[in-house]
Amino acid sequence: MAIRNIYVEGEEVLRKISKPVTEFNQKLWILLDDMAETMNQADGVGLAAPQVGILKRVVVIDVGEGLIELINPKIIGQKGSQIEAEGCLSCPGEYGKVKRPSWVSVQAQDRHGNEIVREGTGLLAVAFCHEIDHLDGKIFKDIAIEMLDVKSEE
Ligand code: NI
Repeated sequence: MAIRNIYVEGEEVLRKISKPVTEFNQKLWILLDDMAETMNQADGVGLAAPQVGILKRVVVIDVGEGLIELINPKIIGQKGSQIEAEGCLSCPGEYGKVKRPSWVSVQAQDRHGNEIVREGTGLLAVAFCHEIDHLDGKIFKDIAIEMLDVKSEE
């Protein structure tokens, strides 16, 4: 496994639409392993492939309940709403309040191409939405209700 470089806001790759994964092979598995290691090392709860410069629809998430790998994810159901502070490994030191569904259901494929459905509430629901947005070139700051002044809060 290897730590990959995390691209930060301003890099064009973060604004592009990622392509669906069609081959579930060693190259994908290396990417997934590297993304998980990169996320853990950066203390993040989620990472999308465009953040490491790869325009493929691949996401890893770990909100403290174990690693979730999502290939070609899409939101197939959502309920309620929540407003929570979000940050992003591509926007270091910046946090903002974002409105998201409080429950989200995601259809995706696992690393072998098998169809899976995952559901999440709270932080996991936020992570699903936040990471899938990255695959469409969107950053949480685009939809933040307000950005937080972190220094004055401490
Ligand atoms: Ni992010």
